[in-house]
Parts: sequence; C-alpha cells; structure tokens
Amino acid sequence: MKAAIRKVYGPPTAIRIEELEKPVPEDDQLLIKVHATTVNRTDCANLTAKPFIMRFVLGFFKPRKAILGTDFSGTVEAVGKSIHSFAIRDRVFGFTDLGLESQAEYLVITPKGNVLRIPDKCDFKQAAASMEGAHYAYSFIHKVSMKSGQNVLINGATGAIGSALLQFSKQFDVRITATCNTRNCNLVKSLGADKVIDYSKEDFTKDTEKYDFVFDAVGKSTFGKCKPILKEKGVYISSELGPYSQNLLLALITPLGSKRKVIFPVPFSIKKTLPYIKDLLEKELFQPVIDHEYSLEEIAKAYEYAMTGEKTGNVIITITD
Ligand SMILES: NC(=O)c1ccc[n+]([C@@H]2O[C@H](COP(=O)([O-])OP(=O)(O)OC[C@H]3O[C@@H](n4cnc5c(N)ncnc54)[C@H](OP(=O)(O)O)[C@@H]3O)[C@@H](O)[C@H]2O)c1
Repeated sequence: MKAAIRKVYGPPTAIRIEELEKPVPEDDQLLIKVHATTVNRTDCANLTAKPFIMRFVLGFFKPRKAILGTDFSGTVEAVGKSIHSFAIRDRVFGFTDLGLESQAEYLVITPKGNVLRIPDKCDFKQAAASMEGAHYAYSFIHKVSMKSGQNVLINGATGAIGSALLQFSKQFDVRITATCNTRNCNLVKSLGADKVIDYSKEDFTKDTEKYDFVFDAVGKSTFGKCKPILKEKGVYISSELGPYSQNLLLALITPLGSKRKVIFPVPFSIKKTLPYIKDLLEKELFQPVIDHEYSLEEIAKAYEYAMTGEKTGNVIITITD
C-alpha cells in the first residue's frame, strides 16, 4: 500500500510517499481502507514536533510512528475475531490526536470509542472533515455552561476549530459575533453568525458590545486584550497557550478572585466528542467546512498550506474515491 511517511521530525519536505506492506489486523483490530483524511494543525505539530513538548509523547529523538495522519474516513475491510460491533463494508470514521497512521491506503485500529459508523447522509470527505477541529471545538463549549440569549464572540470562526465552534455554539440559542477576513464574511454568516467583524478592517477588542464568552479559536489574541469586552463573570478561552504560555497559569489564578476568568480547553476524550459530532451530523446541524483537496501524492503541499495558518476549515486528502 502507499503511505505518507517521515523518519525524522521536520518540514513538509521530510515527507515521502512509500510502498509498504498492507497491515494485518490483530484479533481486536479492524482493517480499514482509507477513503479520506485531513491535514490538520495537529498533524502539523506531529510532523514538526513543535511545540517541543510533543516529543515527550511522539518519541523524543525520532517519531515512534513513521506513517502520518490523525483522522480518517473509510470502509471496514477485515474484522478481528474478538470484535462483534463492526462488520465488513461498514463506513466508519475516527480520530486520535497522537496519530492513527491514516495518511495511507490502509490502517489498522483497535476500536475503543475512537471509531464510529458514518451517518448515511455524510460522504467520506465530510466525515473526515468532521473530526479534528470539531473534537477541539467540543472542548470549548463543554467547559462552560452557555444559556439562551447570552452573547458569544468567536475569534477566527473560519478555522477548523472556529467553524465547528460557531455551529456548536448555535445549538445553545446564543447571539454570536464572529471574526474573519473579508473573503470569508459570507461563509461565517451562512454558518450562523449574527454579527461579523472583519479582522482585516477592525479590531474586535475595541467592540462596544460586552460578551459572556470570548472564544479565541485561533489563539491570536490574549485575555488582557479581551478583558474590556468581557462582561463581569465573563469567560475567555483560547486554543493556544498565549504568547508567554500564560493561559495555563491564568486558568489557575483567575477563578480565585478575578471578575473575569480564563479556562484552558484541555480536550475531552474522543469517546465523548465523537458521539456528539455524529449526532449533530445526523441531525444536519453541523456541516464541516472544506477548503482545498489534494491527492496522497500531493500531501507535502497540503502540509505547507495548513502550516500557513490560513486554511478555511479543513484540508482534505482523497485517498480512494
Ligand atoms: N489546544 C489544542 O489542543 C489545539 C489543537 C489543535 C489546534 N490548536 C491550535 O488552535 C489554533 C486553531 O486551529 P485550527 O485548525 O482551527 O486553525 P486553522 O484552520 O489553521 O485556522 C486558520 C484560520 O484562521 C484565521 N485567522 C488567521 N489569522 C487570524 C486573525 N488574526 N484573526 C482571526 N482569524 C484569523 C484564518 O481566517 P481567514 O481565512 O478569514 O483569514 C483561517 O481561516 C491553531 O493555532 C492551532 O495550533 C490547538
């Protein structure tokens, strides 16, 4: 089978497409024929081992897993003897942030809540695009209790996390202000934003409205800058640690006495997020945003593009039609 591999941490030029043995499933594993996968920001961190802390989980001197990829959609091609919950030809999707070796024609996986059947209405590309960003978006909204009528601002509502977060927030009947670049204003309105701030023209932290929640889905701002637009008891959540890695410390100290607090969105288990995502897809309440599509042979280009920080939603790798 063809697979995208790298033997050392490095830039997209470290990636090679190689012909490898097709994996053989153990008794507790499924063999999946991969139809689509994404190149997401977690993949970029796994490729480069940046931030450095990634080396403690991926392998200190070199990556333990040579094949890249964290998410997939595909069909079950073989079922291990001890598995009774899946059958051959089932359409399935899944995600694991530390890597599933899914940027390949086949993968094997032990299903432990990290694989579910794809809803009938969803195609393989939509299924793959519903994984990584949506998984992290779930961790934003389930760290707070949003109530109908509250005011929410999402900075970077066009990224993989932001575009899912916007649609998930909409389920709570809140009023949503979203920031994006000029070219994406219509997109964020179509996803449910009530008000749009074009970040290339206006600084959202100077807005005259006050918010119950500021979700910085691209980590481009700080709690300090957002404080003036937060209501008393307002909450700031960012997808990044902040320019001085201050968000973890702020998450510990602001609940102790500050009127406005920071929460760090430590991700929930995929076992929790995947059924939520599947349910919204089934109810057609979540439509993942798809940007460029590439073939497996073009995957280094897909990484280069994702690493610009300018993709809109998700970048798809189509492996089998
Ligand atoms: N905490 C975690 O566990 C975790 C996991 C994964 C990712 N992350 C981090 O979370 C962040 C978002 O990830 P993602 O995959 O959603 O990102 P992404 O898809 O790469 O985000 C790209 C989007 O960011 C928007 N953007 C760029 N600069 C902006 C600015 N100054 N203001 C507002 N929007 C801006 C762009 O919008 P326009 O096209 O409109 O310019 C683009 O659509 C990344 O920094 C990533 O490293 C954290």
